[in-house]
Amino acid sequence: MQNFAFYNPVKILFGKGQIANIAAEIPADAKILITYGGGSIKSNGVYDQVQSALAGRNVFEFGGIEPNPHLETLLKAVELVRNEDIDFLLAVGGGSVLDGTKFIAAAVPFVGDPWDILAHSAPVASAIAFGAVLTLPATGSEMNTNSVVTKWETQEKLYFSSPLVFPRFSVLDPETTFSLPPRQIGNGIVDAYTHVMEQYLTYRVNAPLQDRWAESILQTLIEEGPKTLANPQDYDARANVMWAATLALNGLIGAGVPQDWATHMIGHELTALHGLDHAQTLAIVLPSTLSIKRSSKWQKLLQYGDRVWGIVDGSEEERVTKAIANTRNFFESVGVRTRLSDYGVGLETIPVIIERLEQRGAVALGEHQDVNSQVIEKILTLSL
Ligand code: NZQ
Ligand code: ZN
Repeated sequence: MQNFAFYNPVKILFGKGQIANIAAEIPADAKILITYGGGSIKSNGVYDQVQSALAGRNVFEFGGIEPNPHLETLLKAVELVRNEDIDFLLAVGGGSVLDGTKFIAAAVPFVGDPWDILAHSAPVASAIAFGAVLTLPATGSEMNTNSVVTKWETQEKLYFSSPLVFPRFSVLDPETTFSLPPRQIGNGIVDAYTHVMEQYLTYRVNAPLQDRWAESILQTLIEEGPKTLANPQDYDARANVMWAATLALNGLIGAGVPQDWATHMIGHELTALHGLDHAQTLAIVLPSTLSIKRSSKWQKLLQYGDRVWGIVDGSEEERVTKAIANTRNFFESVGVRTRLSDYGVGLETIPVIIERLEQRGAVALGEHQDVNSQVIEKILTLSL
């Protein structure tokens, strides 16, 4: 096992009715800004629950944070927070609202252009406190330090990470997810699944506990995910998927093991350039990455096939091929298409993506830093 430091202070309030308990988590004299997206929280009752939990408090609101949150929108919230001396943010929504709020939290006290935090890894020296009410299980943002923001003007989708943007608390009430449309349910399953794969499907470092955790999260998503599509009101299935998605990217399963993340880095370019949903890009890129990198991932692919999919018959070659095919088929089965052509994206995007990654020096990807421009080209060509 590799050396690691693990730190995760996020308090999770899990289960039905937990929104009612948020007032106790926010200082009584706080000036609070509720941040949210395009309005789903207003039609599914989550907004009303939050408002009644905060009755009598000093509350402002900022709506309109887009999926793949835009810098340009978030900067308006930064202005509002500065002008009103707001000192606590409450993000209510999916990963985009949470990520956007992390950015606002870091940008408010930042001296200079806050985009530098992402574009030039400018250090985050302080951030305002925030909490979250999650309505879409997918990203793990509710219990991690990551934030992904898109600068609309230049179509750049970049991330930053800082322990200062851990939420103080996150509410995970599975009932808030009953209103998700099938597309977002499938997206959430694929995103969480891919987060596990990025941290598990690399090479062996004798970390059987991390492997077993990863495999159990994958199996939970395979077994419970389809139930949430078949019956949106299935509370138990929702609860299991929600907790699985949180654990998929809260730092635990990735501690002490090598990590890949090539699929995510390539995927972010597809979103930035073509507007595909985050999970759609992962469903396209992950199966091809596994195929192109199969020889260096061989032992883990065999283990994954055996333990997650019960693939024990056939030659090693056949078992590896089947494990990758099962991954693709699972994504398709939850409604997320796995080919660039399914989204009307063609060959011409490949050199553009490679050039953009090269410009940022992001062409030594993967657990061996050997996913270079040529490998990225092969991966994307196989994704057509
Ligand atoms: O904006 P509203 O009206 O709220 O609608 C949203 C949005 O249209 C809707 N939605 C959310 N909860 C709902 C709901 N609709 C009905 N009922 C509910 N309960 O779903 C749509 C998508 O929401 P979004 O927040 O964009 O989705 P997701 O949670 O998948 O977040 C994606 C973003 O997270 C980033 C992605 O790159 C992308 O920008 N990621 C963040 C990560 C992190 N912080 O660690 C890691 C991930 O790999 C990922 O990169
Ligand atoms: Zn992701």
